[in-house]
Amino acid sequence: MKDKIIVTGGCGYIGSHTVIELLESDFEVVILDDLSNSSEATISRIKKITGISPIFIEIDLKDARATHKVFSDHKDAKGVIHFAAYKAVGESVQEPIKYYKNNLFSLLNTLEAQVYNGIENFIFSSSATVYGMPNTLPITENNKTQRPFSTYGNTKKIAEEILEDYTRSNKVFSVISLRYFNPIGAHSSGEIGELPNGIPNNLMPYITQTAAGIREKLMVYGNDYPTKDGTPIRDYIHVVDLAKAHVLAVKRLLNKEQEMALEIFNLGTGVGYSVMDVIKTFETVTGVKLNYEVTSRRDGDVPELYASINLAKEKLGWSAKKALDDMINSSWIWEQNFQNETNVISKSLSGSDSLK
Ligand code: WQD
Repeated sequence: MKDKIIVTGGCGYIGSHTVIELLESDFEVVILDDLSNSSEATISRIKKITGISPIFIEIDLKDARATHKVFSDHKDAKGVIHFAAYKAVGESVQEPIKYYKNNLFSLLNTLEAQVYNGIENFIFSSSATVYGMPNTLPITENNKTQRPFSTYGNTKKIAEEILEDYTRSNKVFSVISLRYFNPIGAHSSGEIGELPNGIPNNLMPYITQTAAGIREKLMVYGNDYPTKDGTPIRDYIHVVDLAKAHVLAVKRLLNKEQEMALEIFNLGTGVGYSVMDVIKTFETVTGVKLNYEVTSRRDGDVPELYASINLAKEKLGWSAKKALDDMINSSWIWEQNFQNETNVISKSLSGSDSLK
């Protein structure tokens, strides 16, 4: 009998890559997703890659009644991985109430419903943004969290505080919170990848859309930072490495190996790259010259962020394996596949000659 894991937001970028790793590690998966920032087509892509179709339930986790019903139907699950959240940093600053309601109501309903149905393991999708402006580097899990600049980041910080309170009051509930640095890249099949809604906030999808001719040029937000080339440094991590860490975190909880009710792990490579490093590596790896222009700084950007990865290595037995070249190349292959598919669909819908 396979252990069942409920994955909220499982049709999303990191969620879908994690579902693939769970299925390939012989777990049964139930995806809960409201499809507000993802597509049901991801389910068939997961099946194409793994040969297995996860159970998929379209649900708004802000609906407490519906959430309780779905957890009651799947009370045999051994744990939950909670990805479901809005994540556009810029939009969150413009619409804070939308973000606090969605990200926190979904979390609270999920926690209440799963515990009511006796599901006691919870993996939380957190973010390095909870560290705010770091005063030491590399950043360890003992670094104090600070009020993130964006509402998105603050929903992650508040969520971790909710989990801290909850594990203090509920002695049988175990949580691992995974603080992602900068997830990029795509599955080697080229079947799934990042699908930003509208204009991408993040660097990698903006680069691949510029290279694909969707965007006219990449704006480099400032080159006057105190870094080697003046552009900000981030710890980019391959989304497949990130996904594998989630499987190890699930196994740690199912095997009751956790040492505290709430454990927190950084997920990064421990290596920082600047924006210019990423641009130059993209050009080298793909052979595509990137059209970019240096403009003014973006509000909220910090000069440098990269992870200490010792704790995840020691406790999860995990470290990132994939290099920046692979992260970038897999992003580019996914972008090209996605654009080709989109063109084929739009041509077939318009009945243009290429398909006659
Ligand atoms: C990276 C660097 C920009 C776009 C955020 C969230 C984090 C996580 C990842 C969700 C920065 C520069 C970017 C562009 C640019 N979110 N940049 N031109 O801001 O480090 O982290 O996304 O999972 O929680 O905080 O990532 O990709 O937006 O930016 O120059 O068009 O690229 O200034 O230095 P960030 P990012």
